[in-house]
Amino acid sequence: MAADRAAGDRPFLVIGTAGTTAAGVIDPLSELADFCRDLGVWFHVDAAYGGAAALSDRLRPALMGIERADSITLDAHKWLSVPMGAGALLCTDGAALTETFRVTTSFMPADVPGTVDPYTSSHQWSRRFMGLKLFLSLAVAGRTGYAEQLERDADLADYLREGLVGAGWDIVNATPLPVVCFADPEDRTWEHHDALAQFVVDGGRAWISPVRLNGRAALRACVISHRTTTADIDELVRVLNDARGDWRT
Ligand SMILES: Cc1ncc(COP(=O)(O)O)c(C=O)c1O
Repeated sequence: MAADRAAGDRPFLVIGTAGTTAAGVIDPLSELADFCRDLGVWFHVDAAYGGAAALSDRLRPALMGIERADSITLDAHKWLSVPMGAGALLCTDGAALTETFRVTTSFMPADVPGTVDPYTSSHQWSRRFMGLKLFLSLAVAGRTGYAEQLERDADLADYLREGLVGAGWDIVNATPLPVVCFADPEDRTWEHHDALAQFVVDGGRAWISPVRLNGRAALRACVISHRTTTADIDELVRVLNDARGDWRT
């Protein structure tokens, strides 16, 4: 930032991620919030995936500092399990959104006092009733129901980690979120991991993907379906072990 400012640029924004796509890493959000406050810049958090953790008392501490963000993106179609797409932008400064996005034309209906028409505070005009999916899910499961499911997913990921370590795989990421990245210590090539993922996916019982973390090959499993059970996790570990055995022979 200092270098940018010295060069005559005007940096205005820092984006932290609460749950990176590949490894579920959560940036040090409190430190970023301090940094943004000290430099007077906007603090945005991409919590598209990990933000759901805020609904669980047990998982919420992992997001510490997110409450100081100026804006947050949160995708209900990720860990909140509603059908695609239901992305949300939460912003502490409604006036800034209006200043940024509001466009008026003579053919649009006049404002209704006491209401906010979403087209005046976002770039989308015609839109579906996307929030209904989340509203109904919350009405059925409630906050407690959601918290139970999120914690169950986190427990299943721990169970998967244990199963993988027990079978001789290396866990190569660290996150409280249910994203498990792991590698075969006996063959660290991309080719090997890509083939293992393909074997698992072809089996039709689980979906995982190969991933590069800092250039190193790994496999990535994300527990995100409310239908996943320990039997599915056992099956995944079994299929992975079969895949590894096949590859070696
Ligand atoms: C951290 C994060 N941010 C943003 C996105 C973008 O998601 P979408 O295009 O569904 O809003 C993803 C997708 O995986 C993600 O993991």
